Amino acid sequence: TCTNGVMKQAILLTGGAGYVGSHTVAALLEDPVKSEQYDIVVIDNLVNAYRAPGQKKPEPLRIIEELTGKSVIFYDVNIADGAKLQEVFDKHSVHCVIHFAALKAVGESVEKPLEYYQNNITGTCTLLDTMRKNGVYNLIFSSSCTVYGDPERLPLDESHATGRGLSSPYARTKHYCETICEDLAVSDKKWSIISLRYFNPVGAHASGRIGEDPAGIPNNLMPYIAQVAVGRLPSLSVFGGDYPTPDGSGVRDYIHVADLAAGHARALALLPRPGFTAVNLGTGNGYSVLQMIAAFEKASGRKIPYKIVGRRAGDIAANYADVSLSHKLLGWSAKKTLDDMCADTWRWQSNNPNGFKKSS
Ligand code: WQD
Repeated sequence: TCTNGVMKQAILLTGGAGYVGSHTVAALLEDPVKSEQYDIVVIDNLVNAYRAPGQKKPEPLRIIEELTGKSVIFYDVNIADGAKLQEVFDKHSVHCVIHFAALKAVGESVEKPLEYYQNNITGTCTLLDTMRKNGVYNLIFSSSCTVYGDPERLPLDESHATGRGLSSPYARTKHYCETICEDLAVSDKKWSIISLRYFNPVGAHASGRIGEDPAGIPNNLMPYIAQVAVGRLPSLSVFGGDYPTPDGSGVRDYIHVADLAAGHARALALLPRPGFTAVNLGTGNGYSVLQMIAAFEKASGRKIPYKIVGRRAGDIAANYADVSLSHKLLGWSAKKTLDDMCADTWRWQSNNPNGFKKSS
């Protein structure tokens, strides 16, 4: 937008209508400085986000505008469509791209690898090429601890090998995209790329108005537990009770999506930072499936019926982050506890038993 002839710079969020993306939009708009300094522009193809009939913007973004009193600029664009992408860059002077847009269901990626490679990899290459054509070299990439494979040591620090023994096409797309970004930064010093390796994002905005809303049966633990608690699913299957962990169930580093969003805002402040920099975003604490069930029962006051069944193919026993680089480089650390994660998820799910779609 232009105010008295001065064109405001934009922060462009691809996939900004998704779970982590929408919470990052909220965090940027709730930041008094950033929300004045930048236009917040979202592109999303809505493959994994709900837009109500007759509405221009997807529900999460409409709700964030209500909550913050600020506006988001939205374009229904697929990152793989170079011509449509160029139209967005024609309209805005982009300071930085935060790239969330990706297909992310591990199981689905095993069934549909080509769709995952086309969307996640070709889409990312089209985005990078369009950025370069428009002289935009600041990128924050949404990556994942899954690039580490089965950890050789814990806690996981950023120097741990990546790309070895990856368990799904989804994981491989994340690793290949990091590799493409790294090669690009080596080839041209103008690129400043920060790859944020999320551990396990959970939780919801404190308002309870936005949260995780997976299509179909949830793959991930927290939304599955939340749907059991609210009565949408009968019981939880615990995938494996014989792992080498304290109680035999899988251990993960769950991180509140609000902490994750704050980490992105801190990474923005780091740019420009020529080169490729990978940073873990985790809490440094690992919790087991059984601990998560107990915490959610406490937060919701609901019983979570479960049964321990066989391990899920491709799962690792445990992982949790070494958080020292994120502290040092971003001046950031996760603040929310497991109880916060469960209480905020429960507020979202119990207020919105069917997610963003009001009708069941
Ligand atoms: C967590 C724990 C399961 C479901 C994946 C991706 C990662 C990120 C998050 C996408 C494990 C157990 C789960 C269930 C269970 N990506 N579990 N019953 O597999 O650690 O990470 O999702 O956004 O990149 O790799 O997350 O939530 O699927 O599993 O027992 O019904 O819960 O075995 O120990 P995961 P998850």
